Parts: sequence; C-alpha cells; structure tokens
Amino acid sequence: MDTKELYIIYLIVSFGFILAIRGLSSPKTAVIGNRFGIFAMGLSIFVTLLVLPMGNDFGMLAAGGLSAFVGIWWGLKVKMTKLPQMIALLNGAGGLASALIGVAEMMRRQGYMFDTTLGMLVGTIAFSGSVVAFLKLEGKLNLKRSSFNNVLMVAVLLFICWMWWKFLITGRLAFGFLLLAIGFLFGVLATIFIGGADMPIVVSFLNSFSGLATAGIGFSLGNIALIITGALVGASGMILSFVMARAMNRTLYQVFFKSFEKSENKEQDQKNMREGSVSDAAFLMENARKVIIVPGYGMAAAGAQYAVKNLALILKEKHHVEVKFAIHPVAGRMPGHMNVLLADAKVDYDQVFALSDINPEFETADVAYVIGANDITNPSAKTDPASPLYGMPVLDVFKAKTIFVVKRSQGPGYSGVDNPLFYQDNTLMLYGDAKKVTEEIIAAL
Ligand code: TAP
Repeated sequence: MDTKELYIIYLIVSFGFILAIRGLSSPKTAVIGNRFGIFAMGLSIFVTLLVLPMGNDFGMLAAGGLSAFVGIWWGLKVKMTKLPQMIALLNGAGGLASALIGVAEMMRRQGYMFDTTLGMLVGTIAFSGSVVAFLKLEGKLNLKRSSFNNVLMVAVLLFICWMWWKFLITGRLAFGFLLLAIGFLFGVLATIFIGGADMPIVVSFLNSFSGLATAGIGFSLGNIALIITGALVGASGMILSFVMARAMNRTLYQVFFKSFEKSENKEQDQKNMREGSVSDAAFLMENARKVIIVPGYGMAAAGAQYAVKNLALILKEKHHVEVKFAIHPVAGRMPGHMNVLLADAKVDYDQVFALSDINPEFETADVAYVIGANDITNPSAKTDPASPLYGMPVLDVFKAKTIFVVKRSQGPGYSGVDNPLFYQDNTLMLYGDAKKVTEEIIAAL
C-alpha cells in the first residue's frame, strides 16, 4: 500500500469518527453513530495490521485478539450503573497506549521531541487519573481535600513544566523518564481528592485528555487519522465537561480545587408538604390534555422506566393525552442517564425533550409527574440568590397546573438543598417507591 492509498484510508477513518460523534449527539441517531464508530475503529485496526512492518505477527494478533475478547465480554456484561467506571478505565487504556508509544518514540528519536513528550505526558496523566477515578467510582478511595493538597498539586505542575523544559533542551532520557513519573503522580493528585458528584465531569475531562494525548502521538508518528480522531475526542470531551459543569452549577476550577459541599436542610420542619393519592393522580392524568413526565435519579434507583413507559402509553393510547418526557442534562448520576433508561424501555424518541425545548411547555401542562427527581426541579435555582443551587439551569416544573412528586420521604436530593416546589399549593406528594407508585397509578387508570 503506498502513502497516497494510506492517506485516503485514514481520511475515511477520520470521516467515520466524525459521523460517529455527529450521530451520538442525538438519541435518534445514536445507534447509527455507534456503527460508524465501530466501522472506523475496525478499519483503522485492519489498515494498521496491513501496513505495520511486524516482527512478531503472532504476538501482535494474540494481543489484539485477547483485547477484543475482553472488550466484547466486558461490554456485554457491564451493568448500566457501572458504565462510568468502565468509561474511566477505557480512557485510562487510551492514555496508557499514548504514553507507551510516547516512551518508545522518545527512546528511538533524536532532536525535536515536543509532540512526543506532549502525547506521553498527557497520556500518563489521563492513565493515572482514570485509574484513580475508577477506584473512586467503585467506592474504594475516599479522601478529603485540604488546602495543602491544592498547593502540592500546583507545585507538582510547576515541576512538570520545569522538567519538560529540561528534557526538551538537553534531550537526556533521565529527564524524560522523570517527566513520565511526575506526570503519573500529577494524574493521581489531580483526581484523588475530587468528590463523587464531580466524578462524571472528571471522567469526561480525562476522556478529553486521552484524546489530546492521541493527537500529540499522531503528530509524532505523522498519522493523520490519530491527529483528527484525537482532536475530535479532545474537543468533544472538553465541551461535555463544560456542559456538565454548568448543568451542575460548578466551574472546572471548583471541580479541581474545591470540594462539593452538601448544604444543611434547615427549613423543612416549618412547612408542610401536601400528600396526594394514587387515585387523584390517575384522575387528573386521564383528564389532562398534556402531561409532562420528569424522571430523575429515583426512577433509575427504582428501575421504574418500564412502568413509566407503560403509564405514558396508556395515557396516550387509551385517554388521548399528550405525554412528553423532560430530560435535564444531569438528571440521575451520569451524563445521559435518563436517555439511556428511557431508550432501554423503548420510549419513543419523539416524546423525549431536552431542558431548553421543554421548559416553555410547563405552563401549558395540566400535570407534571416528577418521578424520583429533586434538584433538577428546584425553583430556588432561579429565584433565590442565597440558594447553593442559584444559577443552575432547572426544569420549570413549578409552572405546571398540578404537580405530582413521587419520592419515598421528605428528604432532600443530591445537593442536600430544600426544594420549595414540594410546598407549593398545587404540588401533591406521592410517597413510595417510584416503580410501585407508578404501577398503582396504572392500575387505577
Ligand atoms: P436528586 O436530586 O438526587 O433526587 C433524587 C430523588 O429521588 C431524591 O429526592 C429521593 O428522595 C428520590 N428517590 C431515590 N430513590 C427513590 C425510589 N426508589 N423511589 C422514589 N424516589 C426515590 O436527583 P435528580 O433530581 O435526578 O438530580 C441529579 C442530582 O445529582 C443533581 O444534583 C446533579 O448535580 C447530581 N449529579 C448528577 C450527575 C450526572 S452527570 N447526572 C453526576 C453526579 C451528581 P427519597 O430519598 O425521599 O426517596
């Protein structure tokens, strides 16, 4: 295969990844996007095997075959709730690959070394950071941050810059390996003190890092497929990190330097929440013109997505009610959590709406059915500058004519902040497990 043919294949691979990212940006096209990604990845592995001057063909194929087996087996068996951990480790694997190629290039090459060391360093940070993220998500590491940790982190970062500079001007391998070791330490330090709520942002950030490492190695090897793919992953991961941070009312600075503090729930005792009944809910829903369902973490915890889908189906088919689902970008505990669950229950994509599209519709909704959601519906994020949630985009559930909230107790949501929505005159609480209550409403319907 000559260079021109190889470049054409690399362009097809890059185009495949671009279509994959494009497809994955909407639930409607996610499956086809995923297939483009599989195609592009398959083609890049195939062409690499074809063009590489292999010394040990058997070893290469055995390693590739074993990795493919582990990947397929793990992908089939992983539980939806463990996906963030899996993504963290896969990011780590990408970072490790870049770091190892960087080390090999560093030992082989003379002269210009910026791209190689960039890929190696960023890959190492992505690797060690991702392993720590995995352990934290598994609940195996739980360390509290102190201001000393931040000082240490900045000191290590400055040391990295100095060591990098030394290596680039002297070319001495000892400095290169020291750079590798400190990069590893920095990845650990940067993630080990981050709290659980911020972990999905960190995982996305590390994903972006593994992309940047790939792009760096792409420059080093002169491989345009790696450069384009790495840049795609780097940019999309970075954008996702910003979007998530904003949706959780955090900045990236706060994620890395300030722990998330849950607030105390003080007001609750002085006010009353009104309790409704399953038959009230069924009656108002079947007589409504529009019902908006707002799923949150509690729906996931109860595994209530199938019941919710049935409820929507019965309202639509039997009672001719317009039913829509409102999805907040950080509802649940991982990006896309609600979309994945609703897709799993085969809810029609046309019924599922993102925050900005559904918010204007709450004032025309007869019923909002809030199932296991709390923080993402908290109106104080819009109305109370003293609220810790102030500034976070929320669903305008409070504007609906009647609101039913399903939860098991009067306790707060993830942030620990009291939710004034629950005390509104038009809000009725349905206490109980999300799945059980929804099934009871279905029975009443
Ligand atoms: P939350 O604010 O955590 O509220 C979930 C509610 O579900 C709780 O009030 C809980 O009340 C109820 N619940 C739990 N299990 C239930 C069950 N089996 N049946 C019925 N209700 C149940 O969730 P949310 O509204 O989805 O908001 C997400 C929160 O998590 C945000 O604060 C967000 O910043 C944070 N967060 C999100 C992510 C991502 S990326 N999505 C990552 C980390 C953190 P009871 O205990 O009274 O039942």
